[in-house]
Amino acid sequence: MYFSNKIVLITGASSGIGKALALELAKQQAKLILTARRAEVLAEVQEECLQYTQHCKLLSFDLTDSAQIAPKAAEALQLFGGLDVLINNAGVSQRSPVTDTAPEVDRQIMEINFFSAVNLTKALLPHFVKQGHGHIIVMSSMAGLMGFPLRSAYSAAKHALHGFFETFQTEQPVKDLHTLIVCPGRINTPISLSALTGSGQQHGKMDDGQKNGIPADKCAQIILRAAEKKKKLIKIAKEEKILLAIKRVLPSLYYRIAHKAGMKP
Ligand SMILES: NC(=O)c1ccc[n+]([C@@H]2O[C@H](COP(=O)([O-])OP(=O)(O)OC[C@H]3O[C@@H](n4cnc5c(N)ncnc54)[C@H](OP(=O)(O)O)[C@@H]3O)[C@@H](O)[C@H]2O)c1
Repeated sequence: MYFSNKIVLITGASSGIGKALALELAKQQAKLILTARRAEVLAEVQEECLQYTQHCKLLSFDLTDSAQIAPKAAEALQLFGGLDVLINNAGVSQRSPVTDTAPEVDRQIMEINFFSAVNLTKALLPHFVKQGHGHIIVMSSMAGLMGFPLRSAYSAAKHALHGFFETFQTEQPVKDLHTLIVCPGRINTPISLSALTGSGQQHGKMDDGQKNGIPADKCAQIILRAAEKKKKLIKIAKEEKILLAIKRVLPSLYYRIAHKAGMKP
C-alpha cells in the first residue's frame, strides 16, 4: 500500500472529502495529522480513523488566521517527526450572484480557498525541499476550470489555485516533490450547508447537486490513486466534464446551459 507509514496532513478533515481521505488513508496505515476548526467533530473522525491505523493526531485551527500558519506548520512537523504528504483540502463554497455579494465575502472566500493553501504550502516547503521528496495535493474544483453561476469568488479562488500551483509545478524546486491539482464536480458532501450567501451567512441547505453527487469515498480513492501515479491534474466529475467540453467547442452554448442550470440557489 503506497501510503502505508507515510505522514499525511489533511486540512478540512472534519467533513466531506477530507474526512473520506482520512478514512481511506487510515485503511492504508498512514500516519495522519487531521486539521479543521471544529475540534470536537475532528475528534470523532480521529476515533473512526483509529479503528484502522494506530497513528492519528489532531491539530485544530482556523486556516484563515495567517498568524497561526507558521506555528501550526512547525507543530505538525513535530507530531510524527516529518511530513510526506500535504493535502490542501479545506474550502468553503458560495451561493450568491455577483450583484448581491459583499466585497468582504469575496475576500473571506479567497482567504480560505486560495490564501490558506498558499500560506500553508509555503510554511511547509522548506521541509519538503530539504527532504527532497513528497506530495502536495490541492483541492480545486471544476469551477476552477470554468465559471458557474452564484460562485464568482469561489470560482475565482479555484482559478487562482491553478495559476499558483501550475506555476509551482513548472518551477519544481525538487525533482521528487509531486503536486496534484484535483478538480471535482459535484461530490456528495455537506459543502452547500456552509456555503456563503452574499451577506456572509451560511446557505444552510443540502443542494440536490450535492445530494446526487459522486460519493465522497469514491472521490477520495480516485484522488489517492492519482497521487500515487504522480499525476498533475485530475477531474472527478460527470456532467461538468461535458459542460467544460462544450465551453471549449461551442462557448455560446456553455453560457446558456450554465445560466439555466445554476441560477437557482
Ligand atoms: N463537495 C463538492 O461538490 C466539491 C466540488 C468541488 C470541489 N470541492 C472542494 O473540496 C474541498 C472539500 O470540500 P467538501 O465538499 O468536503 O466540503 P465540506 O464537507 O464542507 O468540508 C470542508 C472542510 O473545510 C474545513 N474548513 C472550512 N473553513 C475552514 C477554516 N477557516 N479553517 C480550517 N478549516 C476550514 C471544514 O472544517 P471546519 O468547519 O471544522 O473548520 C471542513 O472540514 C473544498 O476545497 C471544496 O471547494 C468540493
